[in-house]
Amino acid sequence: MTTAQLFINVGSASFLATKESKEFVKENTEIKVDREDRRTVGEQFVTDPRMTCRDVNVYYGDNHAIKNVSIDINRNEVLAMIGPSGCGKSTFVRCLNRMNDTVDMCRVTGRILLDDQDIYDKNIDVVPLRAQVGMVFQKPNPFPKSIYDNIAYGPRIHGLVNNLAETEEIVETSLRKAGLWDEVKDRLDEPGTGMSGGQQQRLCIARAMAVKPEVILMDEPCSALDPIATATVENLIHELKEQFTIVIVTHNMQQAARVSQRTAYFHLGDLIEVGATEKIFTNPLHRLTEDYITGRFG
Ligand SMILES: Nc1ncnc2c1ncn2[C@@H]1O[C@H](COP(=O)(O)OP(=O)(O)O)[C@@H](O)[C@H]1O
Ligand SMILES: [Mg+2]
Repeated sequence: MTTAQLFINVGSASFLATKESKEFVKENTEIKVDREDRRTVGEQFVTDPRMTCRDVNVYYGDNHAIKNVSIDINRNEVLAMIGPSGCGKSTFVRCLNRMNDTVDMCRVTGRILLDDQDIYDKNIDVVPLRAQVGMVFQKPNPFPKSIYDNIAYGPRIHGLVNNLAETEEIVETSLRKAGLWDEVKDRLDEPGTGMSGGQQQRLCIARAMAVKPEVILMDEPCSALDPIATATVENLIHELKEQFTIVIVTHNMQQAARVSQRTAYFHLGDLIEVGATEKIFTNPLHRLTEDYITGRFG
């Protein structure tokens, strides 16, 4: 951002965070938490979480990439994770479905529960876990298969379908949920890789949904998309929260403000602040959050 101005739309309300409104913030709130204090402030816990993370630390060799992070992920919410590049957003979301298991040198400590189940329990099978907690990546990555098979593959290997009729049904419902059915129903046998970028990303979201996840993790899902495709994916995220819990990493603050109900701000591996998105973007508790949202850092 080149100026201190940030237009934010949260639900029906609009805010204009400017230098002036920051003066307003200063005069009207309690003293802000100091930059040196790295304990999490705000509302990181909820009463009936879908996922519970406690004292999570991640190390890549000697690099302590996530430092003692505790946060709940609420049911049917979109939780945005924001913060400067390299602060640990991707590392943290990869902990939520044990994707870090595949990264060399990576060590995770602490506790992460999905409902009441410890996902790091040594008896957990990560294959069904990664269906329950699905992931959508920055760059759309359809399989080199037909549109139909991109969706049908997961339900088949996870044993969710027994026959052709059930498979066809899950393909159709998943593509419908992703808002893609009408665009592709006449060319299901064409390769997924031949679609536009925005369609490919919605195909990947449909593929994640086809295996009946509880949580969908999205790591900068729109950063490779143009503004129109981005808007389509954002609308989709908005609809999906009725059925799923969504965690979205984004470096785009306007996007966080548009799609999420809660926002978590990370800074150099520390979780600095969590709260209602509207509050984080208009009246954060921590100086570091304020620096970031007003464009002074990152
Ligand atoms: N696969 C990896 N191997 C080693 N270090 C990594 C790896 N991925 C991330 N890191 C390190 O962990 C820290 C956090 O990175 P990352 O989670 O990618 O941040 P963000 O997604 O917020 O940009 C950085 O210091 C980065 O260099
Ligand atoms: Mg990242």
